[in-house]
Amino acid sequence: MAIQGSIVASILLSYLVAACYGATFSSLQNTLVVTASPQAGQVLKGGEDNITVTWSLNNTFPAGTDSDYKTVKIKLCYAPISQQDRAWRKTEEELKRDKTCQHKIVAKPYSPSTNTFTWTVQRDVPTATYFIRAYVHNSADKEVAFGQTTDSHKATNLFEVQAISGRHVSLDIASVCFSAFSVVALFGFFFLEKRKAKASQKS
Ligand SMILES: *[C@@H]1O[C@H](CO)[C@@H](O)[C@H](O)[C@H]1NC(C)=O
Ligand SMILES: *[C@@H]1O[C@H](CO)[C@@H](O)[C@H](O)[C@H]1NC(C)=O
Repeated sequence: MAIQGSIVASILLSYLVAACYGATFSSLQNTLVVTASPQAGQVLKGGEDNITVTWSLNNTFPAGTDSDYKTVKIKLCYAPISQQDRAWRKTEEELKRDKTCQHKIVAKPYSPSTNTFTWTVQRDVPTATYFIRAYVHNSADKEVAFGQTTDSHKATNLFEVQAISGRHVSLDIASVCFSAFSVVALFGFFFLEKRKAKASQKS
């Protein structure tokens, strides 16, 4: 009786823990097939280049696998090489605390057939190596499945983003300074010319 009681208690407790802490990555089923347009090793420019993401249900799974699938959230995720020594990008088993996939690309209602979405790499995406992951949420908005463009070791099909916003900002500053200087210079020369003209009239 006591053993049965403690088993029941521990099962209840684990449900409670699961309910409080939400989904863990290893509890998700890898049922989506996800591909993206960048070639392995390609370097994309922030603010300019586009990524086309394609996803669908892997139809080797039995019918009904996706009966509670409601939404798909596509995210840009840091590859291990860009997570090293950066606690703020660390992978955590508990999805609420996981920092691997910080850049949201799009959220769409789930559909098992082929879906595509084209996204322009945003300027606030830092220079790093990335892959793409899709999370499937159920009707309770809890993660239940996923798919990604890389393998389970996050070693294949990685691409890079080169943030160029910094360069643009300094170019912008330089061009503003240059225009301000040319306006000042223009007026300067204008007055100099006028003074010269007056001086020559007097003499
Ligand atoms: C990315 O998509 C935008 C909007 O569709 C387009 O204007 C732009 O030319 C595309 N960029 C490249 C590099 O193809
Ligand atoms: C579909 O899932 C099966 C079983 O997990 C896997 O072996 C197969 O590689 C997957 N297909 C694709 C295209 O990812």
